Amino acid sequence: MAALNGSLSCFEKMDDVLFDTWTSLLEERTGMHLPKERRSFLETSLALRMKEIGSQDFASYYQHLQSEKNGGHEWLTLVDRLTVHETRFFRHQPSLDLLESVILPKLFDSRPNRKQLQVWSAGCSTGEEVYTLCIVINQFLKDLSYNDCYLAVTGMDISMPALVIARKAIYEQNKIRHVPEQYRKDYFIEQGDMRFQVIDALRKRVCFVPFNIVDMKKTLLESMDIIFCQNVLIYFNRDRRKKIIHHLVERLKPGGFLVLGAGESLNTPHPELEKLDFPNSLAFLRKK
Ligand SMILES: C[S@@+](CC[C@H](N)C(=O)[O-])C[C@H]1O[C@@H](n2cnc3c(N)ncnc32)[C@H](O)[C@@H]1O
Repeated sequence: MAALNGSLSCFEKMDDVLFDTWTSLLEERTGMHLPKERRSFLETSLALRMKEIGSQDFASYYQHLQSEKNGGHEWLTLVDRLTVHETRFFRHQPSLDLLESVILPKLFDSRPNRKQLQVWSAGCSTGEEVYTLCIVINQFLKDLSYNDCYLAVTGMDISMPALVIARKAIYEQNKIRHVPEQYRKDYFIEQGDMRFQVIDALRKRVCFVPFNIVDMKKTLLESMDIIFCQNVLIYFNRDRRKKIIHHLVERLKPGGFLVLGAGESLNTPHPELEKLDFPNSLAFLRKK
């Protein structure tokens, strides 16, 4: 069997059987679908981790992951290596415009005296999406003097290392470059080393929780007013996506809103969802 290139040449390339074994394990545990074109990504990611922990070949590493003693811990590390955490503050402006100009006004028109607003970011990565939502919504509440409304934003992700970063809420200057200047002044504090931390008043409104989107029965969240799930569904196959959407809708209040990534699609319409007509965005109202 051929070997991997460069510093990983001590490992053999995967044959079809081995590739199927690994992709089935990933699919079963995370829902993540790795097509054949990503075989070298899988080989390289596994081999890099195997080298770090001194595992000899794919089969023994597979066994290690099944072991009761350290398998669970190792699995968390591997999942972090295999998931894509790309994110940024104010990543998709049209979705934020929609939030500010349609979703929030509708939620407050229907209940002007609401005492709380429950928001969920599913697949929140290192926290940028959560703090962006917090800033935009907090600003809306402040500008319209909805002072009695308590905002709570929950970020969830399968990657524990990503959640650790999210909870610290400290970002390098480069990472906050997309935050509008006034918001940078209002919502971040310089740490003295070109790193900036989100202010306490905002951090008090958020919490970060580990979760696996394919195992939503374990999620206690329900009755959400707004769910953002952007750039996550792309990693799942069609059936999985359908199930995930179904579970997300169950956790939305009637009259609540689901916001997906603009390039994502529902494939088949959901009977309880009504699509919002807003440019360059993909969002739905859960009908009452
Ligand atoms: C590309 S990031 C998107 C981050 C953010 N939503 C955004 O749009 O900027 C995708 C995130 O989904 C998470 N993810 C992948 N599979 C998951 C699963 N089964 N359960 C929960 N989160 C998952 C990854 O760990 C990653 O942080």
